[in-house]
Formats: sequence, structure tokens, C-alpha cells
Amino acid sequence: VAFAAPAFAQDAYPSKPVTILVPAAAGGPSDTVARLVAEAMTRDLGQQVLIENVGGAGGSLGAGQVAQATPDGYTLLLYHVATSTFGALYPELAYKPGEAFSSVGLVTDVPMTLVGRKDLEPADIGALMTWLKGDGAGATFGTAGVGAVSDLCGRLLTEASGVELTVVPYKGTGPAMTDLVGGQIDLMCDQTTNTANQIKAGEIKPYGVTTKEPIAILPDVPTLASSGLDGFEITAWHAIWAPTGTPEPIRQRLSASLQKALTDPVVIERFAGLGTVPVAAAQATPAALDERFQSEIERWSKLLADAGEK
Ligand code: MLT
Repeated sequence: VAFAAPAFAQDAYPSKPVTILVPAAAGGPSDTVARLVAEAMTRDLGQQVLIENVGGAGGSLGAGQVAQATPDGYTLLLYHVATSTFGALYPELAYKPGEAFSSVGLVTDVPMTLVGRKDLEPADIGALMTWLKGDGAGATFGTAGVGAVSDLCGRLLTEASGVELTVVPYKGTGPAMTDLVGGQIDLMCDQTTNTANQIKAGEIKPYGVTTKEPIAILPDVPTLASSGLDGFEITAWHAIWAPTGTPEPIRQRLSASLQKALTDPVVIERFAGLGTVPVAAAQATPAALDERFQSEIERWSKLLADAGEK
């Protein structure tokens, strides 16, 4: 009689390493968040939580790999707000993000910064806007590809100010940052998990933060909203998803492990140094992410449709 075997198999989860796929290059902002969380989850799950980076097309390529993975809890996706834009921006995709992914929980909401190469002439955001409408028109702007949050920020900037940018796509803003520091591109709008240390080291020039209020680790950087771009706001909320069909006990086990990781003092301290905070435990749950994801899919579909993008 083999009746006990399936229950046993599930109780043992995880019985081998778990892979979190980050659909952007190693060393970038999402990768940084994922590695900190994975370290803490490894301690809790008693199995290695590995990171795999599959960058390109704003993250839609790597996310597609997770959409098609076996829903057994061993392949997960960690990404951000961009996941809610893929349906609108890539209608040809073989998966619908709103249906292909099953929520595990929210992770953190990361502020962003508009930054330039350190020798860019304009001293502040006002001067930058004047320059972008004149001599600097068509300045180069690094992104992680169509739909990435760095790209969404650039779209909002163009919409709010009418400035023209020449978008240069990378497989993630990790490699874009290397080029910004090297002076090969002019501007980026990127998460503090990638920009805070470079700003503090004087390697890049900060022009503004994308949150309503200034942020603690960059107190001297004004908000874009208070610098002539009224209401300008975008943050990169991150989350963990599993492929749809992942057994409920596994999803709950992962959510519990995520909640534990987000109260780990080391994670809290490292996040703080990068300008962000973990979400509250009640947000690191399937229900909270379901709600956020569906409402963000609606919001971005509308915003992108209004901007002429279907
Ligand atoms: C990355 O990790 O490279 C970024 O999160 C990509 C992006 O700007 O969306």
C-alpha cells in the first residue's frame, strides 16, 4: 500500500536547493535585494536558496522562464513593479503575468533616484530640465529594457516634462551603472539599492528622488515632486512569485520563510544602508501580493494605454 507517499513528499519540502530567478543582470538592484533575502531564507529553509540571473527585455524573458517552470516550489521569481507592465508592453508574450504567477509575498518598496554621470554640466534638477530642453536634448538614458522600472521612470519623466531622451537598453541596470560611472551614458533613473553607494562615493550625480518625501540616507537630494515635477512618484515594489499551480502548503511555507527573512536584523540593516525597508509581515503574504499585483496590472495597463502604448 502506497497511500502515505504523496503526503510525505510534500512534508519534506524543500528537499533540494530552491532557485530564485532574477530577470535582470547580476550586481543590479533586484539582484541585490534577492541575494540578501535568499541568504536569510537559506538559514530558515535548511536548503540553499540560489539566485539565477536571466536579464533582457525589461525582465519579461526571465519571468517567462519562471512562468513555464514546474510549479513545485523549486523555481521562483523575484522581481518588481515591472512584472505588472509586461502584459501591456509585450502583447505577444506566451504567458499572461496576471495568470501565470502565483503570489508568495511582497518584499520591499525601493525608492528611485534620477542620476547623471558625475561630470554632467547641470548642477541641479532645474538646470537639468533646461539643458534637456536645449543643448542636452536627446541625452542618453540607460535602462534595463522596455517595461523595466528604470524605463517606466524615464517614460514618466518624458511625460511630466516633455524632455526627449535617447533610451539605451541593457540587460539590467547593474551594467548600465558601470557605463554611467564610466561616462558612456548621461542619465539613469534607478533604484537606491544600485545608486545610494555610488552617490555617496561621488561616482554619479544625484538630481532627485522619486518618493513623495526625501529619504533618510540621501537627505540632501530633493524630491522630483518638489522640483517642478508635481506629483512625480514611482517606487519599485519587489515581490516573490511561484509559477501558478504551486501547491498551497509550499506557497505558505515560502511566505512564512520570507516573513522571517524580512525581520532578520542583518537584512533590515543592509536594506537600510541601501535606502529601503522590508515590508511588514502582513504584506509578505500571498493575499497582500495578489491584491497589489492585480491593481498594479490595471494601473499600468491604463497609464501605458493613455500614453499611446498598447
Ligand atoms: C535591475 O535589477 O537591473 C533592475 O531592477 C531593472 C529595472 O530597472 O527594472
